[in-house]
Order: sequence, then C-alpha cells, then structure tokens
Amino acid sequence: MTDRVKTVTLTIDGRTVTVPEGTTILEAARQLGSDVPVICYHEATTSNGLCRVCVVDINNGRLLQPACVAACQDNTTVETRNERVERSRRTILEMLNSAVDLSQAPEIQAMMSDYQADTGRFPGAKRREQPIHDDNSFYIRDYSQCVLCWRCVQVCAEDAQYTFALNFGERGFDTHISTAFDVPMTESSCVFCGQCVGVCPTGALKPKIQWGLEQGWSLDEIRKSTRRPKRRVNSDAKG
Ligand code: SF4
Ligand code: FES
Repeated sequence: MTDRVKTVTLTIDGRTVTVPEGTTILEAARQLGSDVPVICYHEATTSNGLCRVCVVDINNGRLLQPACVAACQDNTTVETRNERVERSRRTILEMLNSAVDLSQAPEIQAMMSDYQADTGRFPGAKRREQPIHDDNSFYIRDYSQCVLCWRCVQVCAEDAQYTFALNFGERGFDTHISTAFDVPMTESSCVFCGQCVGVCPTGALKPKIQWGLEQGWSLDEIRKSTRRPKRRVNSDAKG
C-alpha cells in the first residue's frame, strides 16, 4: 500500500492551488507565476526568514508572514502584493539602504525601484561600515555591502561544504559576518571552495581578480596578489 501525499488547497492572488502539505507559500506562489521578492532566500540554502522582504498577507491577518518559511495552510487566502505588503517591503528596503552600501546589489536595486523606495528616507542613519578584508589570494570581503542574509554562513556549513569557517561576530547593529575570533581567512577552517562568493547577493564577497580589475590593478599586480610566491628549491636538497 502506498502512502497518500497529504495536500492542502488555498487561494493565492485569486487563484486556487493544491500543493503537498509543507510546501511554502513562496514555492506555491512561484508555481502560479506570482513574483515574490527575496533577499535572504536561496534555492541552495536553508531558509531562515531573516530579511522579511518576502512577506505576504494571509487572510488579512494582524501580521504579515514571510513566504519563504511559512507553509501553505488549507482554506487560506494569500495576497502576495497589496498596499500593506508593499508598504512593509518598501520600509525594509529603505532601512537596509540607510545602513548598507547596496550599489553592487542589482537585484535589490531593482526591488527598490519596483517598490519606489525613498533612498533619502532616513537621512543621517548610522552606516554599517567595515574595513575591506583582503587577507587571502582568492576573494575579498567587504562587509559594508553585507545585508546579513546568512547565505554564505549556511553554504559554508550544513547546506553544502561542512567547513564552518563563517559565523557572526558582535551583536545588534554591529553584527557582522566573521571567522571565529575574527582570524584571517588563511588561519580559519576555510578551504577556499568559493561557494560563499557564489551565493552572495551583493558585492560583499568578490573574487580577487574581479576586485583587482575594478581597482585598476595591472595584470602583474593581480598576478602577484592572487598567487603564492614560488617556493625556492634548496639546491642542497636536490640530491
Ligand atoms: S557576505 Fe554576502 S552572502 Fe554573506 S551574509 Fe553578507 S550579503 Fe549575505
Ligand atoms: S526571503 Fe523570506 S525572509 Fe528573506
């Protein structure tokens, strides 16, 4: 006897859909072609519901719910975009923009334009500024562009690499991604697989070659900064 998959039926943006129990609202909405913006969500990493830009309205409830982690419920009515949802997304984007350099985050820039975010809404807001970490031959880390989406931490941990080189340092507004005890990457457990760079939605993590080209480095300078110096062969040891 085969186990029947339990399903739930709900209405999303006026259309009825039946999905397996446990399906998130984001997955169901995407099946229907509804566009729900995401920042912290990535197909390859575990959803943690951190950025809240994916919030949707369920049954006109008191609180909006994050579509990337909220499971579909039977007989509910979901609106992925209405006035409340738009206002909430706009405010989140405006707050993010007030603290973080989003100039190299094209998807977030597109959201800001779509939701008509006011880039001057919080004048004088404290910026999350960090020195650029240039401590290895493979990539640079510029956490002033980091939106704390957690994707790099997840992909470095149980979602893919099982290396656990990244976590966060400090607390509150000063929270930032860091190695344990903030040691340079070369002294951490990092194996330089590059998966963190691949999932980063902003310019916070960038291949060193790309970064060097953007800085106007010559090829020689790039070569020197991305390769280890050749080891000298001890002529006595040649035998
Ligand atoms: S460095 Fe990139 S991937 Fe990591 S938390 Fe920041 S924005 Fe997300
Ligand atoms: S994409 Fe859902 S909370 Fe970030």
